[in-house]
Amino acid sequence: KHVDDKLRTGFHFQPPKHWINDPNGVMYYKGVYHLFYQYNPKAAVWGNIVWAHAVSTDLVDWVMLEPAIYPTGPFDENGCWSGSATVLPDGTPVIMYTGIDVDGRQVQNVAYPKDLSDPYLREWVKPDYNPVIAPDAGVNATAFRDPTTAWQGPDGVWRLVIGTKDNHRGFAALYRSRDFKRWAPARRALHSGDTGMWECPDFYPVTSPGVDGRMKQKHVLKVSLDLTRFEYYTFGEYDHAADTYVPDAALADGNDGLRYDYGNFYASKTFLDPAKHRRVLWGWANESDSTAADVRKGWAGVHAIPRKVWLAPDGKQLMQWPVAEIESLRGKHVNVTDTLVKGGGNYFEVTGLATPAQADVEASFQVMDLDKAEPFDPAWLGADAQTVCAARGADAKGGVGPFGLWVLASDELKERTAVFFRVFKRDDADGAGNKHVVLMCNDPSRSSYAEHLYKPTFAGFIDVDIAATGKIPLRTLIDHSVVESFGGHGKTAILSRVYPTKAVGDKARLFVFNNGESDVKVTNLNAYDMGSAKIRTET
Ligand code: FRU
Repeated sequence: KHVDDKLRTGFHFQPPKHWINDPNGVMYYKGVYHLFYQYNPKAAVWGNIVWAHAVSTDLVDWVMLEPAIYPTGPFDENGCWSGSATVLPDGTPVIMYTGIDVDGRQVQNVAYPKDLSDPYLREWVKPDYNPVIAPDAGVNATAFRDPTTAWQGPDGVWRLVIGTKDNHRGFAALYRSRDFKRWAPARRALHSGDTGMWECPDFYPVTSPGVDGRMKQKHVLKVSLDLTRFEYYTFGEYDHAADTYVPDAALADGNDGLRYDYGNFYASKTFLDPAKHRRVLWGWANESDSTAADVRKGWAGVHAIPRKVWLAPDGKQLMQWPVAEIESLRGKHVNVTDTLVKGGGNYFEVTGLATPAQADVEASFQVMDLDKAEPFDPAWLGADAQTVCAARGADAKGGVGPFGLWVLASDELKERTAVFFRVFKRDDADGAGNKHVVLMCNDPSRSSYAEHLYKPTFAGFIDVDIAATGKIPLRTLIDHSVVESFGGHGKTAILSRVYPTKAVGDKARLFVFNNGESDVKVTNLNAYDMGSAKIRTET
């Protein structure tokens, strides 16, 4: 079948065709990164789910292998859903995934590599004793899935969590095992929340030197909410002996919680990369085109650029940054310095790139007159940034901002996706905290002439002290139908899917705009043409 590749990505992970969703079992084993993912081998819609498999030595170029895990027994006859890999102390990797069994129940199965001397670990064996965890009485068998990577307690016993729900309450159900074969439920869940089903939980330690120089250690719990289709995380204290997790009191648990990404980013998972001593986050971005269009194009779903994730030195949030390897794709480079964009609807084009539809842009914006900031209604803090950004969008005439980038812009500028900032003054500032509130937004409302597109405005607050630094840094990865942005050096991320009809390939253009009253200076902007990742199918 024909694949329409006009808007396919150049450096984001995508198989040659068909549907993909969650990243699964991501791991590093003997010099090779393994990415498994939910995949429909037959069509560009969700269904027939198997674990497809790809390997890489640099997280940029991939070799696509045959699916590693697919239905073979009564314990996974109806699908092989999400799960995780754990590398055991003797170096053997084990995968635990959710099988949909003959009765439609969600059960957890294990699989081991057939041949440890195969560097690509192509074949996986499922022992006959599967499933290893079945839903007990009292567990909702249609909402019991997505086991995490396991961790070993001081007692040597393995633990993992599984996402589940009881009516409207989501749970991270805790299980324990000595041998990865016999598992017993803990009496208490690791955590729960009144937010519906918890899909794809992830639980891991983060350590970073705090502002006081002392190392801070926390545990992060992330969940994906199937009701709202976004993820949130908390971090806090995990007691290894008692298996209790208490999120830091300053963090909201639930719909107002912190997010990795305020855009189209779901079912994510991290893994520890022992080669580079970092934790890497993978997430899935669904299409926001119609299903009919996905089918016509022959493909659906991409993965976000893998992101290094760590705890901010001030301990207030996680930070994320595209893995450094992606910079190896940077080609021709253009630079803009100290260029003023006057207030009141001015803009200029960043010229000189060969492929503005496939680019990496780093910019720093200096606000020239912070006094022009409009008052921030404290009621908006309780609401989400999205409501504020969506109210009038990138074309609003503000005090400080909207200013930022128009990416994937067409010649007549009718198609354009805005990645922008707005700065407000806080009336309730007590002198101690930030006196300003900074919003980062992605407005795709003018991104395409096409109809039937889902074009929500995405937004998050960024914790930058604009009065102290005067500047807001932005990095945006542009990849045909992906606009993936990082504000404040990785404090706030927004991934958006867009489907231009004219701003396609070498027709796309890149601009800096300022619709606020205050002038804004682009102190420094570096834009790079990006090469394409090599995706090779093993034959
Ligand atoms: C999340 C999810 C998981 C499930 C998988 C099925 O996107 O719904 O909960 O295991 O996708 O493909």
